Amino acid sequence: MTAPRGGVTPVVRVAPAKLNLTLAVVGRRPDGFHLLHSVMVSLDLADRLTLDPAFGPADRLHVVGTASSPAPNLGPVQENLVVRAIAAARTAIRAAGDHRPLPALAVRLEKRIPVAAGLGGGSSDAVAALDGALEAWGVPDLLDAGTRRALAASLGSDCPFFVEGGWAAVEGRGENVRPVPPPRGGSLGVVLVTPAVAVPTRAAFERYAAGVRPDGAAALASSTHLVTELQAGLSTSLFLERAGVLAFANDLVPAAADLVPDLTEARRALSRLLDRPVGQSGSGPTLWALSASKADAVGDAAAIRAALADGLITFPGDRPPFVAAAALAGIPSSVPS
Ligand code: C5P
Repeated sequence: MTAPRGGVTPVVRVAPAKLNLTLAVVGRRPDGFHLLHSVMVSLDLADRLTLDPAFGPADRLHVVGTASSPAPNLGPVQENLVVRAIAAARTAIRAAGDHRPLPALAVRLEKRIPVAAGLGGGSSDAVAALDGALEAWGVPDLLDAGTRRALAASLGSDCPFFVEGGWAAVEGRGENVRPVPPPRGGSLGVVLVTPAVAVPTRAAFERYAAGVRPDGAAALASSTHLVTELQAGLSTSLFLERAGVLAFANDLVPAAADLVPDLTEARRALSRLLDRPVGQSGSGPTLWALSASKADAVGDAAAIRAALADGLITFPGDRPPFVAAAALAGIPSSVPS
């Protein structure tokens, strides 16, 4: 952990990734946002944020990568969702009538979640920054849950989910988040494969709006059925039996395939390699395959890396894909030490 500076202990937050087990587009709002029905679950794959008082008047962001992946370029600092979240928190504190000094913050963001991958990394970072900023300023309880959710919703459609995380049914443009019980009786793992091609969410929805979409409402039927089953106490073994249905319950698959030629073939090849259904998270391009434990997912990840090394499988992009095993709704591995 970063050494405390000037007697102030840095605030550390983990920002988990999310997986869309289903993603149905059910309509469009007058402002252009699409209405969704999705079952989402947080993962133990997580970014890590450290917030310190900044030298100087402006909030700052320093992005670092990992041993296996270099720091991504997240664009201009002031446009970054982390910096915008801190600014929004400051504004909300002032609106709550609190006028104490709120020093600028320096955020160190360790990126582990691939960017523009359908895993919600940027949205999760923003919600973690919001929470971390309140603690860094000594007002962790100033904003009630409703205000935090509204603030999160103002930052991005995926943000409200990350206020609570876990397992949830998500509706509206993403602001209606209802916790659902996790499958009962065991752990669940997932292997993630993210081809090295960014898919901006906006671009995928634009393709969808232009008509690149599945016929019918199968994704919605699967999504609502999953919620009903989870509420009735679905077991992990029955949940895994649903993997084949869930893998086809994403209305943004054709849009992602249109934006990333070869994604469909890569998905088929991955499904053949693992002998398991392969789904897509969010607007892609991340592909997923479920398993009975994180240990099993680690085995899947090893098999995929071996097939890549042997040239038996290829993915779109000018670099090898990101391959990782994760636990569904597990505790992030980079919890504050
Ligand atoms: O909310 P967020 O900024 O993450 O969304 C990025 C873009 O994706 C939006 O500007 C919109 O074009 C599209 N989008 C959508 N419907 C949603 C979520 C996102 O059309 N529910």
